[in-house]
Amino acid sequence: MRTLLILPAAIVLLATASAEAAPRRALLDDFATQAKAADPGFTGFSASRGETLFRTRFTGGKPETPACTACHTASPLKTGETRAGKPIEPMAASVTPDRYTDPKKVAKWFRRNCKSVLGRECTALEKGDFLTFMISQ
Ligand code: HEC
Repeated sequence: MRTLLILPAAIVLLATASAEAAPRRALLDDFATQAKAADPGFTGFSASRGETLFRTRFTGGKPETPACTACHTASPLKTGETRAGKPIEPMAASVTPDRYTDPKKVAKWFRRNCKSVLGRECTALEKGDFLTFMISQ
């Protein structure tokens, strides 16, 4: 009897969760675990802090890439461009549905881009905030 009650709820959940939601959730959970380990006072990610990270001009990295927006444009909804002029699909999850679904890709580009822009790797808090912002866009 109990199974009969739970089943419809499970079906609704499965139907509403998109194929992209599960890997993104796993990534965010992972960053949250790391952020909590770094700071026990961690209470969750913030899309607005993520947006600030996206837009801030830093001085610690390469002079030609002072901000994430240097390649990704000021709008997450727009197509960006590499230094070599190759197009970069928009960062907003609503426009590019396969964004942030491959943990290896996410790790590789955070490492590379944070070093270029900030001159260091991003913290788990920064990565979680950035993803939270882009997933909300
Ligand atoms: C020098 C150009 C450049 C800059 C500056 C840059 N990026 Fe990127 N970024 C790229 C390229 C190229 C890719 C890979 C192509 C793609 O995903 O379409 C990428 C991909 C990513 C991805 C992987 C997206 C996915 O689909 O999994 C993340 C995350 C990311 N960038 C974050 C950032 C952050 C955060 C900053 C600022 C701190 C930043 N990028 C600045 C060029 C750049």
